[in-house]
Amino acid sequence: MIRTGRPAHFSRFVRKCLWRTARGDSSPEETRPARVLKFRFRKDGLEQLFRFRERKALSKQTIQPAKVVAGGVVPPGDKSISHRYAMLAGIAEGESEFSNFALAADCHSTLGCMKSLGAEVVSDKTSVRVTGRGLHGLKGSRRTLDAGNSGTTIRLLSGILAGQNFTTKIAGDESLNKRPMKRILTPLREMGAQISARDDNFAPLEIRGGKLRGMHYEMPMASAQVKSAVLLAGLFAEGQTSVTEPARTRDHTELALEEFGVRIERHGRTTEIRANGGLKLTGRKVEVPGELSSAVFFIAAASLFEDSALHIQGVGLNPTRTAILDVFTRMGASIQMLSLRTAQGEVMGDIAVKGTQLKGGVLEGAEIPLVIDELPMLAALGPFTEQGIEIRDASELRVKESDRIAALAENLRRMGATVEERPDGLKVAGRGAGKLHGAEIEPRGDHRIAMAFAVAALAAKTPTTIRDAECAGVSYPTFYDDLARVAER
Ligand code: S3P
Repeated sequence: MIRTGRPAHFSRFVRKCLWRTARGDSSPEETRPARVLKFRFRKDGLEQLFRFRERKALSKQTIQPAKVVAGGVVPPGDKSISHRYAMLAGIAEGESEFSNFALAADCHSTLGCMKSLGAEVVSDKTSVRVTGRGLHGLKGSRRTLDAGNSGTTIRLLSGILAGQNFTTKIAGDESLNKRPMKRILTPLREMGAQISARDDNFAPLEIRGGKLRGMHYEMPMASAQVKSAVLLAGLFAEGQTSVTEPARTRDHTELALEEFGVRIERHGRTTEIRANGGLKLTGRKVEVPGELSSAVFFIAAASLFEDSALHIQGVGLNPTRTAILDVFTRMGASIQMLSLRTAQGEVMGDIAVKGTQLKGGVLEGAEIPLVIDELPMLAALGPFTEQGIEIRDASELRVKESDRIAALAENLRRMGATVEERPDGLKVAGRGAGKLHGAEIEPRGDHRIAMAFAVAALAAKTPTTIRDAECAGVSYPTFYDDLARVAER
């Protein structure tokens, strides 16, 4: 069903905002700065609400049960890497050219922000050209930067914005504006940045850029986004900036910095950058490897059926991302890596998957940050495994694009699974608890929840409907077409 009408409360909201405009709240900044600032936030809120409503009113996807998953799939360009390349290209000198750039809406939020900050961006599907402004050449944007649904955009870009000689406001959609930002505010403020945030933790952020001091930061949590925000701020800081992480997280920022010509030092879990005001990044021509986190949905799909044989091409296999392949292998999956090569420091290759009976097991402790994005898929596989799947120490899942623990528990139960929800994870009973049936899935606007249940639906007894299915486009716009191509009925 496609809903087109706008609910009554939404029309009331629109009328109220239009009335405020007519009343003069939008008069020039010089005359009434406080009121205009307020209106700007209302106007951004209005745009966001329109987008949110439009997205919600769009498609539903019905997934029919399948018998086997076979053939080949090429996942889209890696989101994490694309974000970093886009940001670094914007502060580099000269032109950068990227092939296989992520189609993900999230990365287009980053490109949009870099454009608003003065970089020249030309994109044609997966080919993107960015002409940078140099380390000190970005310009302030009068409009609030829009990070959309993307935590990586807002958290990493905040590091760059902290070092500018202008003030920037940055915000996101309803979901992003509820996600915690204190984790980046603390270290960036320690470096001298002045940042204000709603309730001192949430976007919109107002970042007053200025002189930064290098520092050593002992990260209290394992987060590549926090590490990257500090390192990027370090590009603009006086002296040296170093970060020690409690556990090694994805190192795409480090590799991308090196690719753009910045020398960094790495000793164990510490990364150091010496700026001393004299750094220069140079535009590059690079290829983005395919996204392993997207490939995981297909590894899972193939693993559901004994006769499956799937070839996944051109996947990023950076060792800081491949813990998920170890988890699958431990659970009995048949995975082979082929044609390994490197592209700009990033390892990439193909993955061949054959169907098997997955054992299941427990995921906890230090392994959790390494597979954080893949936990929704693993949990949704639980009912198809021998022992079920238990996830512990993963309360971070509650502050992702949705409360993923609650979303998983709710939707798994809708399909008939036996689930115990806990504050820091969940326990999903295995095959012995019965075969899942189709259901109506509510992904809560979260791309990974929508895709995880579309995969689980392949092995259910009856068809499943994914509501608000196009939220998958946040990371993988062609996901349902790719899945339909390899799922044989
Ligand atoms: C990301 C880091 C991870 C991950 C997110 C992308 C990145 O977040 O969950 O999807 O690109 O750096 P955390 O750094 O919060 O763990």
